[in-house]
Amino acid sequence: MNAIEIHNLTKRFGDFTANDNISLSVKKGEIKAIVGENGAGKTTLMNMLYGLLKPTSGQILINGKEVHFKSPLDAIREGLGMAHQHFKLVPSLSIYENVVLGIEKDRRIRIGNGEIHFPLVDKKQEIQLVQQVIDKYKFNLDANSKIEDISVGQQQRVEILKMLYREVDILILDEPTAVLTPQEVDELIVSLKELQSQGKTIIVITHKLREVMALADTITVIKRGKVVGELEKTKTDEAEISRLMVGREVVVHKCCAADLSHSLVAYRVEHLSTSNSDGKEVVKDVSFEIREGEILGIAGVEGNGQSELSKVLTGLMRSTKGRVYLYDREITNFWPKELRRSGISIIPEDRFEQGLCRDMTIADNLIAGYHDQKDVCRYGILRKKQIEKKREEMVKHYDIRISDIKGNVSQLSGGNAQKIIIAREFSANPKVLLANQPTRGVDIGSIEYIHGKLLEYREQKKAVLLISSELSEIMRLSDRIIVMYKGEIIGELEGFCCTKEEIGLLMAGVK
Ligand SMILES: Nc1ncnc2c1ncn2[C@@H]1O[C@H](COP(=O)(O)OP(=O)(O)OP(=O)(O)O)[C@@H](O)[C@H]1O
Ligand SMILES: [Mg+2]
Repeated sequence: MNAIEIHNLTKRFGDFTANDNISLSVKKGEIKAIVGENGAGKTTLMNMLYGLLKPTSGQILINGKEVHFKSPLDAIREGLGMAHQHFKLVPSLSIYENVVLGIEKDRRIRIGNGEIHFPLVDKKQEIQLVQQVIDKYKFNLDANSKIEDISVGQQQRVEILKMLYREVDILILDEPTAVLTPQEVDELIVSLKELQSQGKTIIVITHKLREVMALADTITVIKRGKVVGELEKTKTDEAEISRLMVGREVVVHKCCAADLSHSLVAYRVEHLSTSNSDGKEVVKDVSFEIREGEILGIAGVEGNGQSELSKVLTGLMRSTKGRVYLYDREITNFWPKELRRSGISIIPEDRFEQGLCRDMTIADNLIAGYHDQKDVCRYGILRKKQIEKKREEMVKHYDIRISDIKGNVSQLSGGNAQKIIIAREFSANPKVLLANQPTRGVDIGSIEYIHGKLLEYREQKKAVLLISSELSEIMRLSDRIIVMYKGEIIGELEGFCCTKEEIGLLMAGVK
């Protein structure tokens, strides 16, 4: 029995076809991976399945029955749940409030055999029920924590929790591991297999082929809105999948250590500390330097101070102690604008929170932060023609796939939105690049490009700070690797020759 059948589904945005006559089916109890380049149409397809977008034409069948969802509420009623690529959580509310949002429990009092309902929320029962689901799936969360206080990885788990709480049978996960650490990914794979053994049907979108091979039974490859491959996991391999996705072999950049002892120190951090809004010290006495031509990698389990360190270094949080230098110039607590003006480019951790403005045009986002520079601004007035020219060049050069060049960033696929930041920051030609999760949500072809570019910077004697939860990325690119644990630097390793196990031990706090 097929849990899902899609027949000739097409979705057009204006005259752009995002999904072109797509047909596929998912058996009950199967795990299906959907893969494809940024902008291929994966999220669009899932949004139609979940009732968020109306198909232009085609048919959707759930458990053999044709459906026409008007909204996700209809989808949930038919047993479908979706965890989105970009979280849909309310930061100021607690975990349990986010989970029960829309299906709150009212307060009841038993009288004899009957019950009286009150138009009040039964907070105690809600907390208890949500905590039960958390514990059942070993999600290691406190139902009372506020979303804004938990890590991105934990927020991802809340998204999945929302579906589990609604007891859906078909789970759609759009890039669930993009923000998870390798350990969290392994835990998630175990949880999803467990859900499968309980009879749930799962569709996962991911760019990480290791996960596809570890998780999926079948794989559908989408390219430019069309299905270009239907594969069974046991009869394929990563190379075949990536060939179908990208249309060519993907190169893995290899690099080796360089002698940097005579190179100048370009960037120096001395005894830096900072505290969060609760007054807790989250970065403690961190010191490091990066020489010209060096990539310094920072590894660590998420929530060990890397985010806060990166915020302090990029002007989004103030340090409580310590100093930062660009060559000999002190730049401690500079604003992002001052940092950029001094020659530091910034790729922030969260593309939509810190890197882009969704409701602004692609062109405006491509110059944001650099909009007072001569090539796009004269006498305080933006030069529209020049900005448009720059936009055309960048979109072409960075292969940003868009349906409407004049549109807003909110219309872009996740990976293409990330590429807007990459294009903006790379083309500023900085002396120092501070890159936090630069390839998050980006397809394998584009990862190859970004990695190549970082190594090119290194060749050009620029300094790069690379914070990433992708251990393979850190190991492949960094000359040196420092590991953060509980806000401190717990150890340093030489790049290119240390092992995953050595980094893993430091990440776990073992010196
Ligand atoms: N609301 C919209 N209006 C106009 N175009 C859109 C809209 N939503 C998506 N698109 C376009 O449809 C195409 C497919 O986008 P989609 O988000 O489905 O890609 P994706 O495969 O999920 O990519 P990624 O891996 O980067 O997340 C993109 O070119 C995108 O710009
Ligand atoms: Mg997507």
